Amino acid sequence: MERVFIKDAPKNLGQKVRLMGWVNSLREHGRVVFLDLRDRTGLVQVVFPESSPDYERAKKLTLESTVLVWGQVQERPGKAENPNLTTGKIEILAESLTVFSLAQPLPFDTKTDGREISEEKRLQYRYLDLRRERLKNNFLLRHQIINFLRAFLTQEGFVEIETPILTKSTPEGARDYIVPSRIQKGKFYALPQSPQQYKQLLQVAGFERYFQVARCLRDEDPRADRQPDFTQLDMEISFVEREDVMALNERLLIEIVRKIVPQKKIQEIPFPRLSFQEARQKYQSDRPDLRRDKNDPNLLAFSWVVDFPFFEKDKQGGWTFTHNPFSAPQPEHLDWLMKKENIGEIITTQYDIVLNGFEIGGGSIRNHRPEALKKVFEILGRKEEDIEANFGHMLKAFSYGCPPHGGIAWGLDRFVALLANEESIREVIAFPKTGDGRDLMMGVPSEVSPEQLRELGIKIVGEKNEG
Ligand code: AMO
Repeated sequence: MERVFIKDAPKNLGQKVRLMGWVNSLREHGRVVFLDLRDRTGLVQVVFPESSPDYERAKKLTLESTVLVWGQVQERPGKAENPNLTTGKIEILAESLTVFSLAQPLPFDTKTDGREISEEKRLQYRYLDLRRERLKNNFLLRHQIINFLRAFLTQEGFVEIETPILTKSTPEGARDYIVPSRIQKGKFYALPQSPQQYKQLLQVAGFERYFQVARCLRDEDPRADRQPDFTQLDMEISFVEREDVMALNERLLIEIVRKIVPQKKIQEIPFPRLSFQEARQKYQSDRPDLRRDKNDPNLLAFSWVVDFPFFEKDKQGGWTFTHNPFSAPQPEHLDWLMKKENIGEIITTQYDIVLNGFEIGGGSIRNHRPEALKKVFEILGRKEEDIEANFGHMLKAFSYGCPPHGGIAWGLDRFVALLANEESIREVIAFPKTGDGRDLMMGVPSEVSPEQLRELGIKIVGEKNEG
């Protein structure tokens, strides 16, 4: 007989059903064992009267054990109805019980929202922590958002394409994670800080509209809105200008809110736009929180921040980029870039999307002219050989008929966390890292065997961090 999901149990009134799930609660009352059974669709009361052949076994159950219950769906006696349960009008009169796995006492309560438990403990037992309702709902929301945007972008002619994880260091502003090569001893792969270069190369390849739900890896200190291992909604489009990319993304953001979190209200449509200067002067921030009422958990204040300077001075007095070296300058400043004049005044086509004080995405129109892109690297102080070694493939690709193109990447974890009213992106990432970059459940990072190191030609020097 087929398994019946708990939410469908009421439809089977008067019939026998086979239910499977976890023991959510247990109590004994006048020689009857009452058990609330939980599966991913809901909760239902199961009753084992003393006359039931498995009554004694039901008495020995523990909370969170996994079981199969076979029994009759019947109406609950009038006063026993539970209006808080969708299955509250019925119960299962158990005829047999199979125990799949008897659970040990859990290290913490999974019925609460979990905020009273230390994060260390929650992450150490993340698979149990994820049983709680709050987290389950966060992942359902995350799934709905991703599912929606995939359909939306597909409808708009985008193609989802995966790009490599073992790749080359690309300047994205953070440190790279590097992976030693066994076959090419002494050489290293870098894990991608973003698919930036690949998505541009896919424009040269002629896809015109690319997107990816992309894993990005950056060796930076984790914070509430930052993880070493995070996810972007990454996209790139050919033959567009800044306005096109911004308009499409604005439309997608509004649609997601309307369809998936209709209880939320967007403060202002079209999204207000601020220049970097204005944001700094008026709000002392380039990601201002424009909410008029900060106590309203359902208010979403989106805004665009534009017109950032392309370059700024670094600590050594040289030039560095503020956002993305592959960005194009504003068309009226292209001449300055080519002549390497007024460098500090060159404005980039960069646009950032801000939500309630968090930068949830950023992108730009790219520099698709190889000679102009080369100027950027020259301003950044890169030598000819260095430009060739690191970016020669991009310059070459752009010489074979490159469409003007631009794109954006959303910090998907940040966006989901804001829609879920969570303060940390760790609440919307299934297996996040702690503040010091560890996965306490798996024990990551960990040492590798001397044989593995030997094979890679690697020797550990200096002190090991025993933390
Ligand atoms: P950028 O570096 O601005 O742009 O990244 C895009 C968005 O990703 C989110 N983000 C992060 N989220 C969690 N943890 C992190 N460590 C982290 N770092 C960034 C932010 C940010 O706005 N290739 C360009 C995009 C482009 O130009 O198309 C890029 O990666 O929300």
